[in-house]
Amino acid sequence: MCGIVGILGREPVAGKLVDALKRLEYRGYDSAGIATLEAGKLTRLRAEGKLRNLEDRLAKEPLRGNTGIGHTRWATHGAPTENNAHPHMTGRVSVVHNGIIENFQELRTAIAETGTVLTTDTDTEVVAHLITHELDEGHDPVVAVLHTLKRLEGAFALAIIFRDHEDLMIAARQGSPLAVGFGDGEMYLGSDAIALAPFTDTITYLQDGDWAVMTRNGLAIRDREGNAVERPVQKSVASALMVDKGNHRHFMAKEIHEQPEVVSHTLAHYIDFTNTRLQLPDLPFDFTNLNRIVISACGTAYYAGLVAKYWFERYARLPVDIDVASEFRYREVPLEPGGLALFISQSGETADTLATLRYCREQDQHIASIVNVRESSIARDSDIVLPTLAGPEIGVASTKAFTCQLAVLACLAIAAGRARGHLSEQDETELVGALIGVPRHMSALLRDESGFEALSHTLSKAHDVLYLGRGVNFPIALEGALKLKEISYIHAEGYAAGELKHGPIALIDESVPVVVAAPKDALFEKTLSNLQEVAARGGQIIVLSDAGEAELGCEVMATIPMPHAHDFVNPLIYAIPMQLIAYYTAVFMGTDVDQPRNLAKSVTVE
Ligand code: AGP
Repeated sequence: MCGIVGILGREPVAGKLVDALKRLEYRGYDSAGIATLEAGKLTRLRAEGKLRNLEDRLAKEPLRGNTGIGHTRWATHGAPTENNAHPHMTGRVSVVHNGIIENFQELRTAIAETGTVLTTDTDTEVVAHLITHELDEGHDPVVAVLHTLKRLEGAFALAIIFRDHEDLMIAARQGSPLAVGFGDGEMYLGSDAIALAPFTDTITYLQDGDWAVMTRNGLAIRDREGNAVERPVQKSVASALMVDKGNHRHFMAKEIHEQPEVVSHTLAHYIDFTNTRLQLPDLPFDFTNLNRIVISACGTAYYAGLVAKYWFERYARLPVDIDVASEFRYREVPLEPGGLALFISQSGETADTLATLRYCREQDQHIASIVNVRESSIARDSDIVLPTLAGPEIGVASTKAFTCQLAVLACLAIAAGRARGHLSEQDETELVGALIGVPRHMSALLRDESGFEALSHTLSKAHDVLYLGRGVNFPIALEGALKLKEISYIHAEGYAAGELKHGPIALIDESVPVVVAAPKDALFEKTLSNLQEVAARGGQIIVLSDAGEAELGCEVMATIPMPHAHDFVNPLIYAIPMQLIAYYTAVFMGTDVDQPRNLAKSVTVE
């Protein structure tokens, strides 16, 4: 994840900006830079690599100025070079950005057609040019930014300063978090409260879609339509050591909301956003030499592997054997030497998964792991680690790690399909493009959670809840059921929707809510018939779909409108409402959402 900081100070800000960026180093980065405004001139300094390289530069070429912004960059568009490092600027504007501007290519083309020469490979540069164009048209900075934001698609956060306005900074949040800090005659901006801890503990968190016009006397927050809005000012308990809940009541809520940002960040590790192509690290195995993959994991990580089974088999024609690690490790599965064993684990310490890895090592398998903790036991014992970059996941119920696992697995499945000749270059562009759009869809879903609170009141009365899905969304039904039961303690079961008539339909009556993942994909009509079977027996249906209610052909208790996305990426997108259903139900039930009874974050014993 990139890191953003900004200061409207009463004294030179360059040193404070670097200090704030140091507190964001945990997010990972490959270059850094700051820009300040002094005597009506914007100047910047950037450096590849670690912040100490930037500090070395600043020691030789100090920046003065009491208004400034800073950035640690995790490259998404364009190599991690000094030229691509933020801040990006024109003579009138300087910008730092976290996230993805999906429509940057068309914007680059439109800007180039005006005769403006773009000098970097980044998506961010287009923001500086668009705002400058608006200023050149005679608009003031607030209108210039409002017009520009309306042209940007994607999930991002921005901080902007202006040559002609020493007491002005504008920030915008659309998917990636931003915190505003209040000082004594100073104002601060950061990707999280940890960055601002040295300056203030009085914080306001921007909500998705908000943008803030900041001066040293305070800020005015507007929503995406430009209407003035109020956000609560709170005391932050952040420190450099603590992972902060931000403005959320639970770590789980924060981590659910981090998904647009951390999925972008994880995808950036495996995708060339500029060319909409994969860019995987060298793999110590050749997909063309494999005749199957074995996958093993536990719990939510296992469900990620189950989704991947559908992807590998469909897009790479590569059979997958998958089993929960607690079973796999004792089955003594016959494995041909030289095969690929893939392990998925947030903690990288799950005992059953580690034991299964060691069994596969003894069977001369290539060992690959997808982990969220790079220095974990599973990572150490792997031939190759494909990291999820979800950041620390504190809530026992896994959320952001799950969707990041899916992001990595999706890239791996595309790579397998390409290597084995089942996906063309055009197919790769289509599937990678669908992945790039996932953070935007997640952001849209996370913008309005009002329906989930009402749903939780209904679900809280249930003793049994069924979750149904078909095809690649069947594991999402399993995951939804796991989320509900592990944090609300309500019994829930996930089923392949087609299995209903083979027994579970006997459970259906008006006391049993049935949650159905029903995207308008190739199996939609089949899923509809299952919906109607449930409705005919009085089942209380909650349907997640991009179809309109009229298309369902039956009465449902509630619908959760879903974006219409590529079938390939529906599992990542449908995971969001599954998490929110469980979260709001658990909150309504009053359970310990972040540390549910009987559970540990990492099961390091058998
Ligand atoms: C998921 O919400 C649970 N907390 C649990 O099933 C978890 O996914 C499982 O224990 C595996 O943990 P790991 O990913 O750290 O290996």
